[in-house]
Amino acid sequence: MNEIREIGVGLISVGWMGKLHSRAYASLPVVYPELGIRPRLVQAADTSEERAQYAVDVLGYESGTTDYHEVLANPEIEVVSICAPNFLHAEMGRAAAAAGKAFWIEKPVGRSAEETASVAAAADDAGVPTAVGFNYRNAPAIEYARELVATGKLGRITNVRGAFFADYSAEPNGALSWRFIRNLAGSGVLGDLMGHLADLSHYVVGPISEVTAATSTVYTERPKLPMGSGTHFAVIEDGEMLPVENEDYAAMLVRFGDDAVGAGAIGTLEASRVTVGPRASYGIEVYGTEGSLRWDFERMNELQLALGHTGPHVGYTRVMAAAGFGDFEKFQPGAGTSMGYDDLKVIEAKKFLQAYLGGDSAHADVHDALAANRVVYAAEASAASGGWESVEQVPGTSAARRREEARHG
Ligand SMILES: NC(=O)c1ccc[n+]([C@@H]2O[C@H](COP(=O)([O-])OP(=O)(O)OC[C@H]3O[C@@H](n4cnc5c(N)ncnc54)[C@H](O)[C@@H]3O)[C@@H](O)[C@H]2O)c1
Repeated sequence: MNEIREIGVGLISVGWMGKLHSRAYASLPVVYPELGIRPRLVQAADTSEERAQYAVDVLGYESGTTDYHEVLANPEIEVVSICAPNFLHAEMGRAAAAAGKAFWIEKPVGRSAEETASVAAAADDAGVPTAVGFNYRNAPAIEYARELVATGKLGRITNVRGAFFADYSAEPNGALSWRFIRNLAGSGVLGDLMGHLADLSHYVVGPISEVTAATSTVYTERPKLPMGSGTHFAVIEDGEMLPVENEDYAAMLVRFGDDAVGAGAIGTLEASRVTVGPRASYGIEVYGTEGSLRWDFERMNELQLALGHTGPHVGYTRVMAAAGFGDFEKFQPGAGTSMGYDDLKVIEAKKFLQAYLGGDSAHADVHDALAANRVVYAAEASAASGGWESVEQVPGTSAARRREEARHG
């Protein structure tokens, strides 16, 4: 057994993601004992006193506070998880960098590309490693898909189809959480789900260079949900109705740039938070001259794969994630026993702490967040202008490094 390296962890915001980051840190020594890393949950902050106390009583932090600045000033803390609503990401990310703390921040890392760029610049200036919550990259079937595309198994990539469809707000009386208020969230489903899909497209195929988009808001009013209570899945009868300030649905037509494995390929990407039917159907399909693949988060442990034009097995066949696909074997001894969503965060925690200890940032970082954000905000601009918008490229993303690694074996 290696010598154990204890790492002091701070948490900012104890909502859904705050709990999940905490569980991921706690699972890390069990799933990856060979790394010799033991996260120590030092302090958690939430403006809700009840949630700060929950972090101590239930999640196991040594102390709680209602002021996140205390977490950043705490000398026992080396790394910080930032799991606050979107409007606080830029402020908190910059403050963490200024305090010299490595940080794992939830997407979208800003309500605009400018805000995200300011966080990336602050992290670069301070030289602190970062990770961003683009967890779908970590699905073992997606890791395999990335390798198949990068090594040319699908031939020349011709087109990509993606849809991130959720029903978390399909109820007309679904709560108006901070996600629906522009000042608090920025864009709606574009930032919430399309950002994930843009990142997944960047990861598997390559950078998007041009976008044209249309958006719509299906429910224009919803009942208010106070900050720090409930979840965005809540349904509230007879609540105070307030306007929805951002889009429920977005569709984009995109072109992949010269640096993509699928250079020149076309993509159609959609996102919705109000579908009736798909529950969390987050899918990507990649089509090439020699084969195709499709993946859907609702069946996370599988990949539909077609290779070649002839033979008895032409057409899609089901491939199940197994040892050798990403980190699958760290979680399950054999194919057919499924990994779950929470496991993707354990992988994210591992990659973050490895980067903190000096390894390559094999995971999405603030540069990847900026790349995804530029796609999202080009789409917003296009939805307003009705034209094509070019997407400024971001150098040094981990997505580019990972595609290159796979290409060169
Ligand atoms: N990667 C993913 O798959 C995924 C999934 C869900 C959410 N997210 C992202 O995670 C972030 C948090 O989402 P969530 O669903 O956990 O939200 P949530 O509403 O469950 O929790 C947010 C928490 O932040 C707290 N908070 C508000 N102001 C604060 C402040 N000034 N200081 C400290 N805490 C404060 C609230 O009291 C609440 O407890 C969002 O940016 C969201 O986009 C990512």
